[in-house]
Amino acid sequence: MEAKTGTRVAVVTGANKGIGYAAVMELCAKFDGIVYLTSRDETRGRKAVEELEKMGLRPAYHQLDIDDESSVVKFRDFLVETHGGLDVLINNAAIIFPMMTPAESFVESIRKTIDTNFYHTMRACKILFPILRPHARVVHLTSDDGHLLRISGREPEASVLRSKFAAPDLTEQELCQLMEDFIDAAKKGDYFERGWPNSVGEREDTWPNEGYIVSKVGISALTRIHQRQFDQDPREDLAVNCVHPGYVITDATFQKGEKTIQEGAEAACWLAMLPPSSPENVVPKGAYVWHDKQLVDWVNGPTPSIY
Ligand SMILES: NC(=O)c1ccc[n+]([C@@H]2O[C@H](COP(=O)([O-])OP(=O)(O)OC[C@H]3O[C@@H](n4cnc5c(N)ncnc54)[C@H](OP(=O)(O)O)[C@@H]3O)[C@@H](O)[C@H]2O)c1
Repeated sequence: MEAKTGTRVAVVTGANKGIGYAAVMELCAKFDGIVYLTSRDETRGRKAVEELEKMGLRPAYHQLDIDDESSVVKFRDFLVETHGGLDVLINNAAIIFPMMTPAESFVESIRKTIDTNFYHTMRACKILFPILRPHARVVHLTSDDGHLLRISGREPEASVLRSKFAAPDLTEQELCQLMEDFIDAAKKGDYFERGWPNSVGEREDTWPNEGYIVSKVGISALTRIHQRQFDQDPREDLAVNCVHPGYVITDATFQKGEKTIQEGAEAACWLAMLPPSSPENVVPKGAYVWHDKQLVDWVNGPTPSIY
C-alpha cells in the first residue's frame, strides 16, 4: 500500500495515561512523523493531548478501544484514508489486576483480563497489520510476568505447558487453545495442579494475578508467532518485539514502582524507532526485551532482575 503523503505514522494504544502517554511524549520528540495518541475514552484522550500541547508537543488524536472491533476497524480505515498506511504500532493498552466486584468471580476477572490483554490485542494486530508499510516496527508491551518461567505451577505439568508455549512452530490457534485450557482449569480450580501459576503468596505485594500472567505470557508467545509471519511477508523488514517496561509508577501499580513513566517508555520507544535492518546493523526481531534494552532468553531465562 503506497503512502498518500509520504509522512510516517506512529500509533500508541491506551495512551491517555501511564506508559502509553509517556511513549507518545517521547515519540513526539524523536519520531520523524505523525504520532497518534489513542484512547478508549475520547474525553480522557483529548485531555492528555492538551497536556502534551502545553509542553509544546503536537500529538494527533483518534479514539481506539481495542475491546470494540468496530473501533479498531474505523481507525484502520481512517489511517488508510488519511495516510495510506502505518509505520509504528505500540500495543500498550491492557488491564492489570482488575478489581473483582462481589458480583464478579475470580474466573470472570481472568476471562476479562485475557480477553483485553491477549485476544483483543491479537485482533487489533490482525486488523492493523495489513496496513503496515515496509520497515514497520511493532512493539507489544509484555511484563516480567510475561516471561515463560512464570508458568510455574506443579511439575512436571508446568514444564509440559512451557514446552507447548515455546514450540518454534506454535500457531495462533494452538496459543488460543492454551489460553482456553487455562480458563477451563481456573473454572475447575485445579489450575496449579495442571501446571498453571498460582501467584498468591509469591511476593509480598502479590495480587491474585494469574490471569494477568497468562495473558502476558500469551502476548510474549504471540510476538514470536507474529515475527515468523513477518519473516514470510513480502513487505521488507517488518519487526515485532515485546518489552517488559520495568516496575513503573502508574495507576496499574497503585502508584508504586521504581521507574517514572518516562523511564518505563524508553525501551518501547527504542524498539519502535529501530532503524532499517541491514547486514551491518541487524535489529532485534521477535525478541523478549528487558527495560534496560537487554534481549532476554524468553524460554530459559534468567531475567536480569526480579522486576
Ligand atoms: N506499570 C508497570 O509496572 C508495568 C509492568 C509491566 C508491564 N506493564 C504493561 O505496560 C502497559 C501499560 O501499563 P500502565 O502501567 O501504563 O497501565 P495504566 O496506567 O493502567 O494504563 C493503561 C492504559 O490502557 C488503556 N486501556 C485499557 N483497556 C483498553 C482498551 N480496551 N482499549 C484501549 N485502551 C485501553 C487505559 O485506558 P483507561 O484510562 O481508559 O482505563 C490506559 O490508558 C500495559 O500493557 C501493562 O501490562 C506495566
